[in-house]
Amino acid sequence: MTENLAAHVAEGLRRMPKTLSSMYFYDEVGSQLFQQIMALPEYYPTRAEYSIFEAQSAALVAALNPPEASGPFSLVELGAGDGLKTKLLLRALLATDQAFTYIPVDISPSAVAGLMASLQQELPSLHVEPLVADYGTALATLATLPGRKAVLFLGSNIGNFDPVGRAGFLAQLAAPLGPADRLLLGFDLQKDPRRIRAAYDDAQGVTAAFNRNLLTRLNRELGADFALDRWQHYADYEPLTGAMRSFLVSTEAQTVCIEALGQAFEFAAWELIHTENSYKFTQPQIAELAAAAEMRVVATFTDVATDFADVVLAR
Ligand code: AVI
Repeated sequence: MTENLAAHVAEGLRRMPKTLSSMYFYDEVGSQLFQQIMALPEYYPTRAEYSIFEAQSAALVAALNPPEASGPFSLVELGAGDGLKTKLLLRALLATDQAFTYIPVDISPSAVAGLMASLQQELPSLHVEPLVADYGTALATLATLPGRKAVLFLGSNIGNFDPVGRAGFLAQLAAPLGPADRLLLGFDLQKDPRRIRAAYDDAQGVTAAFNRNLLTRLNRELGADFALDRWQHYADYEPLTGAMRSFLVSTEAQTVCIEALGQAFEFAAWELIHTENSYKFTQPQIAELAAAAEMRVVATFTDVATDFADVVLAR
């Protein structure tokens, strides 16, 4: 993991503009901060998606587990996190008496350990086979799974890809799926641009801490010497493209040394490191995205305010 991180940082800080992947936000502290973000008053996506699962779990289960397809199946969740929303679905699925194995995949070992402990307590009859892995490894595992599959990719994680990466990822997700398999994707929908921006620049500064924690991680894991007081969080929403972007801003000209790379990097005053995309979607864009991956929309579930959509796709 450290070699991957080092290679990524070496490549990302050579680019123009300098770029680091949000994939590396999720060390132990980053995962805890993300839990706090999900409870923030400004961060609406988690609550919106939770309300969809709360109100429509039986219909979601019916769309994921079509009546014509019987027999056991694997329910794979990419980026499972704390599984709070998924537990609603798992309860509804357990109630159908259909045999299934839940395979939560997450890049954070602590998130997976926490999820396993809570599942053991809350849903002791559930059959779980957890996997600590990044998306690439998860896709490779998906292709080797025998039998029927339903794959969950919730929380608008799909929004963290850029448009090219998103199309490629979806095509890879679709490839191992058979006609009875299903994909459930969560999409944050376009809405009042001010609300979107506020969700990524909260008043308590939790999102700022989450973004800046990436530098703390590089200091610890790669022996970098980022001075945290010279870096600011900046988040901007572009309504024309639906791109919500987060940056780390160098507040002065500075040089940062990274021991693991044996290299120094120059930053001009107010130069940016682009650290995250969180794209927002329209429903026609979702249908287009599905079609490009040779999939069709089987069902769409939204919350009452139409802030968020959970979309079930099939080949
Ligand atoms: C995990 N992902 C969908 C979150 C998002 O909304 O892009 C991560 C996040 N970044 C800042 N706040 C939340």
